[in-house]
Amino acid sequence: MGGNSRALVQTLPFGEAAPHRSSADAVLECADNLAFMRSLPDASVKLIVTSPPYNIGKAYERRSPLEQYLEQQSAVIAECVRLLEPDGSICWQVGNHVAAGEIVPLDVPLYPIFKSHGMRLRNRIVWHFEHGLHCSKRLSGRYETINWFTKSDEYSFNLDSIRVPSKYPAKKYFKGPKRGQLSCNPNGKNPGDVWIFPNVKNNHIEKTIHPCQFPVELVERLVLALTEPGDKVLDPYVGVGTTVIAAVKHGRIGYGCDIVQEYVDLAWERLHQLRAGLLRTRPMGKPIYDPAKPYGGHR
Ligand SMILES: C[S@@+](CC[C@H](N)C(=O)[O-])C[C@H]1O[C@@H](n2cnc3c(N)ncnc32)[C@H](O)[C@@H]1O
Repeated sequence: MGGNSRALVQTLPFGEAAPHRSSADAVLECADNLAFMRSLPDASVKLIVTSPPYNIGKAYERRSPLEQYLEQQSAVIAECVRLLEPDGSICWQVGNHVAAGEIVPLDVPLYPIFKSHGMRLRNRIVWHFEHGLHCSKRLSGRYETINWFTKSDEYSFNLDSIRVPSKYPAKKYFKGPKRGQLSCNPNGKNPGDVWIFPNVKNNHIEKTIHPCQFPVELVERLVLALTEPGDKVLDPYVGVGTTVIAAVKHGRIGYGCDIVQEYVDLAWERLHQLRAGLLRTRPMGKPIYDPAKPYGGHR
């Protein structure tokens, strides 16, 4: 996820794992993701939501040539596919790799890797946000994508759990056999494939020391749509635990690993706060702040 702040972080050498820590509804480990995933059984996870490093030189990244980066991604994706239940989903959230001023939208070179495993792309969701770097030699980047793949044509999709208010809820058919009846679903509309959620910058209530964490509400929508209570949800690049938090918040079981001990410790702390009812998250459905409206449209 886009972000320009840097933190000095201590990473584990690749392939090494720190002591395993778990509770009834969450397993979080400071480990390289290949080592962590290899300890989990085949077809045991219903949903994988993740945002890998973009190889752009953030504090937690080892910058490598694009080919080498794609080889590493390929190994991680292969493990994810192995872990996925037959009716499960993978949501790979990426933006641009930037080198010498040229951008590579990472979903483009990653798509053939998913296809080589027989994965089927259901949506390429555009996540639009309003804050980020101001570019001077190209347009400022204000979206990234969430690439939702399923392992087969039989997959869970609970649209009713993620409906959003219709624009004209009282609109009715004005002719034909349904004349006078409501023309839209009274429970709201399909949220579509362009999602607007504020990204987690300094004034966001969920902000931690992590330079680019997911907003919880974004993962909540995926968890609700693509899993049932009790299902397992994995994030192989878990950072400060947002995916696991969204999973546990909705009665699922969260799995995650990260190579930075400080992030994993923070993930546990956030999880404890969630259980104690003390974790502040931006509520799902809260409108985007609009300075033109009284109180930004929040009252
Ligand atoms: C874009 S961030 C993910 C942030 C996360 N979505 C959150 O909400 O906190 C990518 C994360 O991958 C971690 N990471 C990088 N290489 C890794 C590896 N080989 N195994 C596990 N984690 C890794 C980094 O430390 C970083 O926290």
